[in-house]
Parts: sequence; C-alpha cells; structure tokens
Amino acid sequence: VGSEMCIRDRSNCARWGRPNCKEDKAMKTQLLKVNEDSIALGAKLIREGELVGFPTETVYGLGANALDAEAVVKIFEAKGRPQDNPLITHVSCVEEIPPLVRAIPAAAKKLMEAFWPGPMTLILPKADCIPNAVSAGLDTVGIRLPSNADARALIRAAGRPIAAPSANRSGRPSPTTALHVLEDMDGRIPLILDGGACQVGVESSVIDATGDVPVILRPGGITPEMVERVLGHVRVDEHVMSPLREGDVARSPGMKYKHYAPKAKAIIFSGAPEHVVAAICKRYDEQTAKGERVAILGLDEHHYGGRTFLSLGSEKRPQEAAARLFAALRELDERGDTVALCEAVDTAGIGLAVMNRMGRAAAFDIEQV
Ligand code: TXA
Ligand code: MG
Repeated sequence: VGSEMCIRDRSNCARWGRPNCKEDKAMKTQLLKVNEDSIALGAKLIREGELVGFPTETVYGLGANALDAEAVVKIFEAKGRPQDNPLITHVSCVEEIPPLVRAIPAAAKKLMEAFWPGPMTLILPKADCIPNAVSAGLDTVGIRLPSNADARALIRAAGRPIAAPSANRSGRPSPTTALHVLEDMDGRIPLILDGGACQVGVESSVIDATGDVPVILRPGGITPEMVERVLGHVRVDEHVMSPLREGDVARSPGMKYKHYAPKAKAIIFSGAPEHVVAAICKRYDEQTAKGERVAILGLDEHHYGGRTFLSLGSEKRPQEAAARLFAALRELDERGDTVALCEAVDTAGIGLAVMNRMGRAAAFDIEQV
C-alpha cells in the first residue's frame, strides 16, 4: 500500500529471525487474568524483550520495553504497523519522566497536574534514550501516565517505561476487552493480561503542548473543554474531523492511516434526530432490498422498528458511546454486515472523540439530513 509499507510486508522475518513472524510457527498466546503472578510474568517478558497485551483505562495496549529498540520492532511486526507511526511511552509515575524528555513546558506541567494519571498523552521533546523505533524518527515522544492500576503495576514491576500502541492489528478497531486482543494477536505474542473491559473505550487524547497554544491532535477522554478550563485556550487540529488530503502534512502520523475500518461500508447520518431516524430507515430498507446485510449503530432513545440495531448507549450518557463504539465496529465484522448506518452523536465533550473514530471508520462519509 504505497508509503504505508510496514515491516511485515517487507518479509524480512529471516533477518529478524523471530518466532512471532507469520511465516514461522505461531507462538502460543497465554490469556491470564490480571493478578500479582500474571503481572510478574508480564514484567519478566517485557524485561526479556517480549510483547505483552495489557489493559489500560482507554483501550488495551501492546507493550514492549520502550528503551529496547529490538523489542519495539516486534510491536510493528505483530501489528503490521507502518514504521513511520510513532508509539506512546507509558510510565507508572511522573518521577519516571525526566530521563525520557529534554524539557517539560509550563503548559504541559499544568496538564499533567490536572489530568494525570488519566487518558491523556503529552507530546514532549524526546531525550536520546528513546530509540528512533519508538519516535519514528521524530524529535518528540508521546508520554502517558495511565490511571489503570494494573497498567501501572505492570510498568512498575517491569522497571522500564513501556511503549504501547493499541493492541489491534493495524487498521482494525482498537481492542476494549482482552478477547479483542486475542482475536488480533493470537499466535503473535506470548501473553495477554485480562483486566476486564476498558472504562473510557477510546484512546487517550494526544496533546502537543510544545508550542504556545496547546493542540489536540487526537481527541479522547480529556476533552477540549477540560483543557481550555485549565489553560484558558486550546486548539483542535483541523484533521480531527476531516480526512488528510494530498499534500497535507500530518502533525501526528497516525492521522494519515485508514483506521477502525469495519469490512462494512459505514455511512454517518447527521441532523435532527427525527430526520436521522427517517433517513436511516429509508436507506436500510433500500440497501436490504438490494441484498446488502445492514446494521444500524445508534442511541437507545431512537427506535428502528425491529431493524438490526447495535446500541451506542443512551444520549443521556455520552461516555457510553465512547465505551461501546469499538466493540460495535468489531461486531459488524463478526456478523458479516456489508453496510453500517451510523447516527452522528453530539461533538461536545467526549463526543468529539467518538465522532473522530466513527468518522475515520466511515472515511468521513457524513450525510447531512
Ligand atoms: O490510549 C492510548 O493512547 C492507547 C493506550 C494503549 O495507551 N495507545 C494508543 O497508541 O492509542 P497508538 O499507537 O494506537 O496511537 C498513538 C497515536 C498515533 O496516532 C500516533 O501517530 C500519535 O499517537 N503519536 C505518538 N507519538 C507522537 C509524536 N511524537 N508526535 C505526534 N503524534 C504522536
Ligand atoms: Mg491505535
């Protein structure tokens, strides 16, 4: 796929000679409930340069020792991830950060105090100990201090910062349960720690606080409104709700790639609820008559008269849509749906993160009705 060439596509497994390559015999993947013993095993594997799937409050991560370039390369192999997309480095406390960065700007400090531990990643100038494999050659590194106690226990036990992208195969929806990780990583990694379903359900807010005005590169559980309350101002990158066009430069490499895409063609309907429901019902019936297998993703308050409906929760609790969206996208694939008709949700608060992910799943095919 053009510039999206990844390590796996170069079929250089012989060079790496690692057992988790597709061409070699698949390794056995253990799925263990999180407890003291499984965390100790996970920490040992991380120290030995292996990969571990682990829970965070946002989505499951695919972790490796962030200071071990060879271990980090295995992440890109297991995911089939483009090499120019950098990884987030996770720490268990703020004291672990100074060796990893060259500076912490004042705005970043304020955000750290307000929102860590929690679903926020800060882009900071990187120190030399962060391998290029982690930063994808950039001069910056994303740092995150998760609130999930199991994630922090794993990092602490490993005694190393953990580089971790979401634990999905590249292009698939991020995993919000350990079983999602198993679906994507079975035979590719030695261990998945099962800590139950993720609470937030969308990945962390990625915030570049290196300049004068903080910029949200990826919306998440820490919303623009929350950042503005702390810093007095905030910018949301224009590509959060629009696709990158030819010639556009991505401030965050992840913006470039097709993401979260179910096999079904997804279309978003935006407008007054009664218009959205009517338009979706009409399209549903037309597509079904053409032989398509159609499903609706929407809010519980809206009624579709027995048509196939996957719930994004209640409009009264916007965080439910965030927590359910990725599982719903995976369910479309499992059911074999070919068309997904999705209700747009309000972009206030965490709704912006939901619409960013839904937008990308639909290649920003949004119909105003
Ligand atoms: O919630 C999360 O952030 C999860 C959990 C596991 O912590 N991780 C995650 O990682 O979502 P990943 O690799 O799937 O997404 C990281 C995003 C990508 O869009 C990447 O381009 C961006 O963060 N990113 C990482 N380092 C960056 C940097 N130095 N500058 C700009 N963007 C960066
Ligand atoms: Mg990801």
